[in-house]
Amino acid sequence: MKKVGLVGWRGMVGSVLMSRMQEEQDFAHIHPTFFTTSQAGEAAPNVGVDAGTLQDAFDLKALAAQDIIITAQGGDYTKDVYPRLKAAGWQGYWIDAASSLRMEKDAVIILDPVNGDVIEQALSNGIKTFVGGNCTVSLMLLALGGLFKANLVEWVSVSTYQAASGGGARHMRELVTQMGMLRDEVAVELADPASAILDIERKITEKTRSGTLPVDNFGVPLAGGLIPWIDTKLDNGQSREEWKGQAETNKILGIEQAAIPVDGLCVRIGALRCHSQAFTIKLKKDVPLAEIEALLAAHNDWVKVISNDRDITARELTPAAVTGTLSIPVGRLRKLNMGPEYLAAFTVGDQLLWGAAEPLRRMLRILLA
Ligand code: HSE
Repeated sequence: MKKVGLVGWRGMVGSVLMSRMQEEQDFAHIHPTFFTTSQAGEAAPNVGVDAGTLQDAFDLKALAAQDIIITAQGGDYTKDVYPRLKAAGWQGYWIDAASSLRMEKDAVIILDPVNGDVIEQALSNGIKTFVGGNCTVSLMLLALGGLFKANLVEWVSVSTYQAASGGGARHMRELVTQMGMLRDEVAVELADPASAILDIERKITEKTRSGTLPVDNFGVPLAGGLIPWIDTKLDNGQSREEWKGQAETNKILGIEQAAIPVDGLCVRIGALRCHSQAFTIKLKKDVPLAEIEALLAAHNDWVKVISNDRDITARELTPAAVTGTLSIPVGRLRKLNMGPEYLAAFTVGDQLLWGAAEPLRRMLRILLA
C-alpha cells in the first residue's frame, strides 16, 4: 500500500477532504500518516485504520518517506516545504489545494472529469505535482464541460457570486456575525407587524455604516450587500480572481497555445459555501438549444441541466439546494438577444467540495489505480 502523508487535514478544506475520503473509503487503500504544524506526537485521528501518531509537518525526513503527500495547509506551507523536499531529492507525488504551484510548468491543475486526458499524459511524462484549481474555474468547467469538449466555445464572459468560504473559515464567521448583528438591531421592529419597513431598512443601513460590525476579514460589511472585488489588483485592472478565469481554464484544458478568452467580474456575496456564476457564452456556431443541453448533460456524472423554468430554477439552481452536495446544476440556458450564437447559462457549485477537496482525493485514487 502506498504511504500517503496528509497535511492541513484539520482546516476547513482539509476537514471536507477528510470527510469525503472517509465516505469513499479511501483510507482502506492507503497507509496514512497525519502531519501537524503544532501537535506532533499526539494520536492521529481515527479514520478506521492505524495511523500512529501525528508527525511534524516540517520534518523533511518524515515527509520524504511518503509516496504521496496531500496538503491543504495553505500556500505559505507549500512555498516553504515543497522546494526543500524537492531539493532533497524526494520523488513522490505532491497533491496540493493551494494556488502557489498551479501555474508552474511542471504542475498540472487537476479536475479529472474535465482533464483526465491531460492528467494521464502528465503522469506518463513523469509529472509529480498536481494542484487543485481555483474554485470558480473548476465549478465552471464541470458545468460547461460539454461545450468546451465539443470545441464550441469562442469566449466566455462571467459574473460570479462567490461565497464567504472562498475567503476562509474566519470570513464565514464574520459574515454570520454581521448577519446576526443586523437582525438584532431591528428585532423589536421585526416583531411588530405594524412597524414601517423603511424604518427597519434605515436602522439596518445605519448599523451597516456605523463602523461597529466586525470587518477584520472582509474589510467592509458584506451581510445584506456585496463586494465587487476578490483578491489583489493586477496592472491591467483585473482582480487576481478574474485573471485566474482564463489562465487556469486554458491550463486545465491543456490549450494554452490557443487560449479561449474567459473574463468578467468576480463578486463576493453573502452565501456561505456555494459559488454561483452567470455566463454569456459566445459559441463558434449556432447550435440548437436542445443539442446544447444534451452535450452539457452528458459530459460528466455530476452536472445536471435545469430546465429554464421559474419554479424549478428557484428550487434547484440555488446555494440553498446545492450546499453540501457534489451536484453541479446548470440552468437559465437560453439564447440571448445578441444573436443565436450567444448563450446564457447559470451554475451553482459547492466551493469546498468540487471547488477544493474533491479533485484532490480523486487524484489520489488515480495514483492508486
Ligand atoms: N479565491 C476563491 C474565493 C476561493 O475567494 O472565493 C479559492 O479558489
